[in-house]
Amino acid sequence: MNKQIILLPGDGVGKEIMESAKIVLNTVASEFGHSFAFHQHAIGGDAIDQFGTPLPEDTIKACQQADAILLGAVGGNKWDSLPGHMRPEKGLLGIRKNLGLFANLRPVKGFASLLHASPLKEDVIKGSDILIIRELTGGLYFGKPSERIANGDAVVDTLSYHRSEMERIIEKAFQSARLRNKHLTSVDKANVLESSRLWREIVNEKSKDYPDVKVEHLLVDAAAMKLITQPNSFDVMVTENLFGDILSDEASVLTGSLGMLPSASIRSDGVGLYEPVHGSAPDIAGKGIANPLGMILSVALMLKHSFQLEEEAAQIEDAVNECLEQGYHTPDLHIKNGKLVTTKEMTELVVENLTTKSVSNSICSMYV
Ligand code: IPM
Ligand code: MN
Repeated sequence: MNKQIILLPGDGVGKEIMESAKIVLNTVASEFGHSFAFHQHAIGGDAIDQFGTPLPEDTIKACQQADAILLGAVGGNKWDSLPGHMRPEKGLLGIRKNLGLFANLRPVKGFASLLHASPLKEDVIKGSDILIIRELTGGLYFGKPSERIANGDAVVDTLSYHRSEMERIIEKAFQSARLRNKHLTSVDKANVLESSRLWREIVNEKSKDYPDVKVEHLLVDAAAMKLITQPNSFDVMVTENLFGDILSDEASVLTGSLGMLPSASIRSDGVGLYEPVHGSAPDIAGKGIANPLGMILSVALMLKHSFQLEEEAAQIEDAVNECLEQGYHTPDLHIKNGKLVTTKEMTELVVENLTTKSVSNSICSMYV
């Protein structure tokens, strides 16, 4: 397989973990006979510093021609005082909108060896395996007008959705639920918002096409509570852009390992942007101690969703899990009596597990 991958390291620890992604992809390429070409471009604060804009034209053009995109992180206090349209985050929002990446998938699944670090009691979080599907290119994030009015004394943000934008994300959620445990929780605020009432109507319409999927409606405030009290009662959760932003951050810390979580932002033809959930972590940037596993698992998501390379993705996931089982961890992860390693060392350990695995697999297959 021959693929063009755009790399957008961005800010903070983004650059360091992108190196890990490249190393892992090169290993997968040589072990499985693929060819991945990398093209690196600027985004976020890094692009502001170099080109005076968080999303240069050249980056947009490159992404439009890509088979898939990997992003490190954007943002940092260095750019906090810039006006809204110039902030690093605008780069990320712009690329999502420009490429039509409407479906944001955020799997939240704990690793056995890290569950003890969860803020929840271990028996409450145990067994949780949630896929949060967040609408990513509509709602309050993009509605117009969004501005100060009345000489700056009042303000308006707009929550607007077209039926078709709701239909495509809800459809995606039903499809995902069908492939998992067939339980879909739709989250809205239908007791207050008109947009939520249309959302709920569409979920009910679509559920007729998926009689095998059990549907539950939850108001967003109740959903926020239930994530804490009964996280293992969820399978797939689908919601609009802002609710999804908040709930996915809430869910991500429950596993005790935010640094481990990957995410995918995709559209129907399979093109997608993949990034770890943890963000730019400016406090530890440049120290070589960032956890590369969220990025490496994002690479696995890319191989699965954009390139249909299920086996390769599964092997990366196994290799990561093995590192943790062997007790290796970066400073953000808490493993009792574990072995503390750097970004580079952790990446090498994943590569080591990956190569031993595919060697033993190919030996097996010689005897089939
Ligand atoms: C996320 C982030 C972004 C968002 C920011 C950086 C604009 O919080 O990916 O969840 O709000 O969507
Ligand atoms: Mn967020």
